[in-house]
Amino acid sequence: MMKSKVELNEAVRRELIELAIQAQQYAYAPYSQYRVGAALLTVSGKRYTGCNVENAAYPTSLCAERVAIYKAVSEGEREFVAVAVVTANGGSPCGSCRQVMAEFGLETVVLIADAEGHLLQEMTVEELLPGAFGPGHLGK
Ligand code: THU
Repeated sequence: MMKSKVELNEAVRRELIELAIQAQQYAYAPYSQYRVGAALLTVSGKRYTGCNVENAAYPTSLCAERVAIYKAVSEGEREFVAVAVVTANGGSPCGSCRQVMAEFGLETVVLIADAEGHLLQEMTVEELLPGAFGPGHLGK
């Protein structure tokens, strides 16, 4: 892993949570009304945001975390320092999002916050998905 250009200090934590709150405004959640915002910090120092995007064909919907990660990966970023996730009630990333996070590093820090910006939980992807199936199982 490339050495990170950014340290996950309190100011950066706060910035990621604020970016996730901004992204939450764009959530397209007419079916669940559950609005999620995410903000991802790459090892190279870039920030990517995401919101959940639902669909009338429900399973087609995509979570905020994966939108942010896929935006980053689609621009060549594959190493992440941290991801902040904001919901009204401190919801935790779903299993599919944990799996996608694990693909790109078990040490990424996950910040779970509410819409007022309170940091409620902080853990690594490894802690969120112990024993993850990952690239190593396929020899990568
Ligand atoms: N959702 C996310 O965006 N992230 C998660 O980790 C949990 C769930 C979204 C999906 C759906 O649009 C809504 O929240 C309710 O499940």
